[in-house]
Amino acid sequence: MNAHTIAVHAGDRKKAAAQIPVTTPIYTASSYAGESMEQLDRIFGREEEGYCYARYDNPTNAALEAQVTALENGHGALACASGMVALQMALATALADRRKSVVAADALYGASVGLLMNVLEPSGVSVRFVDVCDLEALRAAVGEARPGCILMEAISNPLLRVGQIDRIAEIAREAGAALVVDSTFATPLLVRPLELGAHFSVHSLTKYLSGHGDVLGGVVVSDVEHYDALRSLARTIGPLLGPFESYLAMRGVKTFPLRMERQCANARQVAAWLGTHGRVERVYFTGDPQHPDAAAIRRLFPPGLFGAMVSFEVRDAGTPEVFRFMDGLKMIVRATSLGDVHSMMLYPAMSSHRELSPKHRERMGIRDNLVRLSMGIEGPEDIIGDLAQALG
Ligand SMILES: Cc1ncc(COP(=O)(O)O)c(C=O)c1O
Repeated sequence: MNAHTIAVHAGDRKKAAAQIPVTTPIYTASSYAGESMEQLDRIFGREEEGYCYARYDNPTNAALEAQVTALENGHGALACASGMVALQMALATALADRRKSVVAADALYGASVGLLMNVLEPSGVSVRFVDVCDLEALRAAVGEARPGCILMEAISNPLLRVGQIDRIAEIAREAGAALVVDSTFATPLLVRPLELGAHFSVHSLTKYLSGHGDVLGGVVVSDVEHYDALRSLARTIGPLLGPFESYLAMRGVKTFPLRMERQCANARQVAAWLGTHGRVERVYFTGDPQHPDAAAIRRLFPPGLFGAMVSFEVRDAGTPEVFRFMDGLKMIVRATSLGDVHSMMLYPAMSSHRELSPKHRERMGIRDNLVRLSMGIEGPEDIIGDLAQALG
């Protein structure tokens, strides 16, 4: 063989040794050779388990998907290139055989509102927003809109409302609709939507599950009824997370319960401290006994774990005063995203909900003096110290 041929083929396509790697390797191959054409035929036809093409699936992704499926107690998962693609995949699968109509929570991440209004609505899906924490209002909206799908967040971004997923799932089932729950803020440590009757649980992997600020990704966890349709759609479209990101995400997920417990504990301390500060007008925290959804939180979340996000309004502040306060932070990172090991503060009017009109934000209750703090795993006294000096 000449050097060109040797360089291309030598060393490749050897089966790994009989020993099993302790952690899942990063498989970057875009295609897989079969032992024979017959075997490849069976794998293409999904009669035999195996890999043939990286747009369909990939062993590194499959390991991450199995990990998240087990945490969520679902049937199967699809790891995607972003949380938004994961949400789009869940909605597209939910609506495939149903009425092209969505009833969505009126409290959602800004880009999710954008997906509904700027992508789905122009393509012929009717969209209606309602307060899903008000079950009577939801029932009325579902009765009128007869949706194919209900969309909600387990803990809403950024005002931290908590709908009763199990009761909402009943309303969805009675109406023949699928329930999609974006559980990014809650994580499977607090709530597992599929156990409560939801059809899909969606996460931005970018946040708590990966947790180190180095992965952009998302995941849809599905029930048994929708899983094949979800995978088939993915085989056609190819929204998959890359293998390197899957590896990083899987590594992050291993410590997510440890991190989340610490973040939740930090949030309780910081929220309590903020509530006593004269320059803070109002604190939004799911552990607050006065929270409007306190009964649902007590019923659905495990004792002592309330989530690790705290939003608050700075007293008598407009945008310039909020900017000055945030510019004064020395440790807490001024950046978008959440759920990382480091504490981060974001100004929703400027970032997560920027694309919405000021009127829309006002309707959602997102005021110009509202900031959102994602608790990290640092010492709570250091987080409080930084807030104290910046508020001062
Ligand atoms: C609740 C929620 N869902 C979905 C997303 C989208 O995730 P990604 O940025 O990974 O696409 C975000 C991002 O901030 C979010 O906060």
